[in-house]
Amino acid sequence: MITYTKVIDPNDIDLKFIQDAADVIRSGGLVAFPTETVYGLGANALDPKAVSKIFEAKRRPLDDPLIVHINDAADLEKLTKDIPEKAYELARVFWPGPLTLILSKKDIVPDITTCGLDTVAIRMPSGSIARELIKISGVPIAAPSANLFGRPSSTNAHHVKNDLEGYIDMILDGGKTLIGVESTVIEMVDSKAVILRPGGIDIEEIRKVIKDVKVFSEQEVLQNSPGKYPQHYSPKAKVIISRESASQKKTTLELAGKFKAKGLNVGIMAKSGRQKEYAGYNVKEMGSENDLKEIAANLFHILREFDTDGVQLIIAEAVKEPGLGLAIMNRLRKAAG
Ligand code: TXA
Ligand code: MG
Repeated sequence: MITYTKVIDPNDIDLKFIQDAADVIRSGGLVAFPTETVYGLGANALDPKAVSKIFEAKRRPLDDPLIVHINDAADLEKLTKDIPEKAYELARVFWPGPLTLILSKKDIVPDITTCGLDTVAIRMPSGSIARELIKISGVPIAAPSANLFGRPSSTNAHHVKNDLEGYIDMILDGGKTLIGVESTVIEMVDSKAVILRPGGIDIEEIRKVIKDVKVFSEQEVLQNSPGKYPQHYSPKAKVIISRESASQKKTTLELAGKFKAKGLNVGIMAKSGRQKEYAGYNVKEMGSENDLKEIAANLFHILREFDTDGVQLIIAEAVKEPGLGLAIMNRLRKAAG
């Protein structure tokens, strides 16, 4: 299959390209598109055959359910039932934006979209291209991250092309995504609120809206959620984390020295300003430790860059975990497996 790429300026959208992409979605094809978090690989969420193509293109196992993207809050009620008041409150505060709500599904949502679960994940993205695409398609769009299963999520169109060219119909290239880590996933069934995946919206922000929210540990997520795999977001290289502490630089250097001595090509994912201290190594700076937004935005790109460089072992410097730090460390721990 030929994969067509259309370059679109997210601040000055050429609707002709969105129209083409919407035609693909309506006729059961696959379109990769930017959201504010990462690129999604979209299909008509209500068309089982179209959705099955997502799993094939990504080589995604059939027990890992998809997020359904909507453009209008009214669509929430078309797709889900028994919506708790707290879910409406979260939607009012954080939509459009990087928050995914898991709710009881209505029959209109096909089983393949939710992998047979009686719940469905719904999100209203804020990215302008995503919004226009959903609006003009006129259908909810099922979209996991647009990467091969297990690989780091795509934060630009090159990443999508590397993983999926020839397997999907179209890529809308809207440049680099803003946030760089995926949405926060929160389950809202049986009057309980449980965070299954930390992401673009901080847990501290969610707690300001609903006090009673449980955060599953990474272990609890593995035990309680469908399609959860301990290793994910992985580059080809092995990833090791250098713990966050006052002596982090020393630890990083010791680890790097140890693996270099074993003959491995070592890369270091470092906080800004440390390049000099790690002279002699392939160092990529993630961003300032005081700017977690910058680190989140660069995270997946750097993991992929090390693969391009042929690095065999990546030492990633841990960050502190309040705010976006939790989402960053969740992704790094999964990359480390
Ligand atoms: O930011 C994002 O969320 C991106 C963009 C494209 O919107 N999407 C994304 O999708 O990250 P994906 O498929 O890579 O991750 C969706 C996560 C998976 O971990 C999946 O297991 C979980 O949401 N999920 C989906 N439906 C679920 C359900 N009904 N119950 C529990 N977990 C669910
Ligand atoms: Mg994903």
